[in-house]
Amino acid sequence: PRPLIIDCDPGVDDCFALFAACASPELDVQAVCTVAGNVRLDTCTRNALGALALAGRHDIPVYPGSDRPLSVAPVYADHIHGETGLGRAELPPPLRHPEPVHAVDHLVGLLKNAPERSVTLAPTGPLTNLAAALECDPGIARGINEVVLMGGADTEGGNISPHAEFNIYADPHAAKIVFESGLPLTVLSLDVTLQLRCTPERMAELDAADTPVTRAASAMIGHVNAIYGEIYGKAGAALHDPTVILYLLSPDLFETRTVRAEIVCEPEDWRGHTRVVNASGADANAVWVDAIDAEAGFALL
Ligand code: BDR
Ligand code: CA
Repeated sequence: PRPLIIDCDPGVDDCFALFAACASPELDVQAVCTVAGNVRLDTCTRNALGALALAGRHDIPVYPGSDRPLSVAPVYADHIHGETGLGRAELPPPLRHPEPVHAVDHLVGLLKNAPERSVTLAPTGPLTNLAAALECDPGIARGINEVVLMGGADTEGGNISPHAEFNIYADPHAAKIVFESGLPLTVLSLDVTLQLRCTPERMAELDAADTPVTRAASAMIGHVNAIYGEIYGKAGAALHDPTVILYLLSPDLFETRTVRAEIVCEPEDWRGHTRVVNASGADANAVWVDAIDAEAGFALL
């Protein structure tokens, strides 16, 4: 199985990503790192531990990371994910304590000593932890196989502002460091994640499965579905973060192109915008994912 570290801010759809990864023997989830994003850091950490407990994976350690972005003031997304970050769901109490090591220190220690290009990183929140780790020791790049992240938007504009997606907007300076790092990046942006929606038919499928995990997942996404209906008048919230795991499991379900993606930090109107142009060779810095076979993707999820 592929060694993987998930760096997340759970968050409803982050929990879907955790559930999917925990249930996939193809992936060896070695650690979960948390970062302030959808909700405050402590809440994200508790939610990660609860999600792992529910998934029966309390063998996986959870490292609490950055409690604020590198330079800007924190913004949260509890208007979407609910005050607890879990919609209407309640997760079981954690079955272990958070690790007494900061996620950034853990990343630096692990990646510096890992075999060359051995560990895959899956960030599904603001990129603060990875950026801080790179700032601390650029040598960590050696241990990283690839970074497959959820963030940004090209054709889809934005969700937290007209020009920006939440994860990049929340810590644009961190995103800039990661996008300029030269690491192999694959980006699951709103362009693709808005194609994977939890429609009423898919909600019915989820409910029919009727397991402890699907019941929690349904109570989470049911809350976001109601908000999506109110805000956007659209049926079916997007399942953003699990697309990262689906991509790792089955890249054939996706369409991609190589691009140069640049992160805009200011002015405020454009904060967190990802400026994307097709590119190749040395000019390219990312694989940009444009499309998913949503039926097959949801079935896999
Ligand atoms: C991203 O923002 C967060 O609210 C979600 O968890 C996802 O990672 C989507 O823009
Ligand atoms: Ca997230």
